[in-house]
Amino acid sequence: PVLVVDFGAQYAQLIARRVREAGVYSELVPHTATAAEIAERNPVGIILSGGPSSVYEEGAPQLDAGVFDLGVPTLGICYGFQFMAKTLGGEVANTGLREYGATDATIVTDNVLLGDQPVEQNVWMSHGDQVSAAPAGFEVLARTAATPVAAFADDVRKFYGVQWHPEVKHSDHGQHVLENFLHKAAGLASDWNSDNVIAEQVEKIRAQIGTGRVISALSGGVDSAVSTALVHKAVGDQLTAVFIDHGLLRKGEREQVENDYVASTGVRLITVDARETFLNALAGVSDPEQKRKIIGREFIRAFEKVQQDLIAEAAAEGDPIGFLVQGTLYPDVVESGGGTGTANIKSHHNVGGLPEDLQFELVEPLRALFKDEVRAIGRELGLPEAIVGRQPFPGPGLGIRIVGEVTADRLEILRDADAIARAELTKAGLDGEIWQCPVVLLADVRSVGVQGDGRTYGHPIVLRPVSSEDAMTADWTRLPYDVLSKISNRITNEVRDVNRVVLDVTSKPPGTIEWE
Ligand code: XMP
Repeated sequence: PVLVVDFGAQYAQLIARRVREAGVYSELVPHTATAAEIAERNPVGIILSGGPSSVYEEGAPQLDAGVFDLGVPTLGICYGFQFMAKTLGGEVANTGLREYGATDATIVTDNVLLGDQPVEQNVWMSHGDQVSAAPAGFEVLARTAATPVAAFADDVRKFYGVQWHPEVKHSDHGQHVLENFLHKAAGLASDWNSDNVIAEQVEKIRAQIGTGRVISALSGGVDSAVSTALVHKAVGDQLTAVFIDHGLLRKGEREQVENDYVASTGVRLITVDARETFLNALAGVSDPEQKRKIIGREFIRAFEKVQQDLIAEAAAEGDPIGFLVQGTLYPDVVESGGGTGTANIKSHHNVGGLPEDLQFELVEPLRALFKDEVRAIGRELGLPEAIVGRQPFPGPGLGIRIVGEVTADRLEILRDADAIARAELTKAGLDGEIWQCPVVLLADVRSVGVQGDGRTYGHPIVLRPVSSEDAMTADWTRLPYDVLSKISNRITNEVRDVNRVVLDVTSKPPGTIEWE
């Protein structure tokens, strides 16, 4: 792999994703990894990420300098660039000149790293310190008004660096810089693609499961849909998929799973209709945490029940169930320390929380993948776009989008409003721009309105469109007024008991994406 050394602050995952977009497999390593540990992973390229610190700060993240003796092509980005400069004998200075955001850079030397690019380009900067002198053996490739050394190269050792962030879309030719490093400087081929990943995973799954039986919980979301489809492709009817309808789904979701998903995959599916059980358990409860706990608990109960039935059935046929599919993604693995190869790996539960004490071996075919790769694989496997393209949806579903008690009646109101908002956003071609758009019913709030000749006393619906890279931080999406207007008109006209639509204009932090 290409190893992306993580100096902190979320830059590294984005770099790893961009490397994979260039068709090269990449993994993350923490900056605390030793040169020996890094060498053990046979890197074909190393990228040093940005980070929030100054290289001179006390406690600034360090990297074993032995990494520069491994003979591996290396690219430093921002903090990584400065760390490289300092470690290899250059100078990094705090001149008090900060650059933040869009910056004009000028290429001053022709080099493979910035080859085939305009001499003047717009790059995204975020730094206080700067490289004031490149180390011996390096050529300066670019400068900006404030930064004399904005990029450098040592073609002999294949060491490169840029002060700007090529991984963010705001750097006009950023992806091209990464591709030049990967393909031209390091000579790596583009061979990481959906086809190869599927073929490799199918092999692995078969090797793991053998002739055993496996179950999978489908949530209607992307991860469980794709992991289940992959396992089905590998072992066919050794797999049984379980779908628990807790009644907190959005309009049409159950049908999408039961009809479209099953038709496109051939998966053997059991649906458990647990709507009444969940509603009864949620009766009289308004506290968000309590709602989440109840939904999680009921989910486990429903799953355990169907699991008992399946186990009994399988045992009768002399073939016990030994495996459970989980849609764990690479960011979950990294965040729980599993990406380091050292720290303990805790398994994340994607489907509203599965029982902790399951006597199953986990099958996790998405462990190495980012979300966009999971979607690409889902498309390659022929899954319905309505599922593959689905925006994130919380495990507790609409249960945490009704502020107040959850009732059948309120769920129906919210489902209708949500369906309208989703349809209009899709129609306006905005799905790509927003990360997700929770639609929330303020069931305990009433406001006065007027409709027709009469006064109404109805509930507000909140639209919460957000843009985000990873849901850790988010900004509210500036949706076009005409789209907002259309959604508002339709909801107040078509959904009973709703007489007002309001827009949430809070970023995260301080707000969370969901209201509960
Ligand atoms: P917040 O509201 O914390 O949400 O900003 C961040 C992201 O996580 C989703 N979310 C959940 N997903 N189970 C899930 O699977 C949950 O309990 C849950 N709560 C929030 C939320 O939709 C957003 O994408």
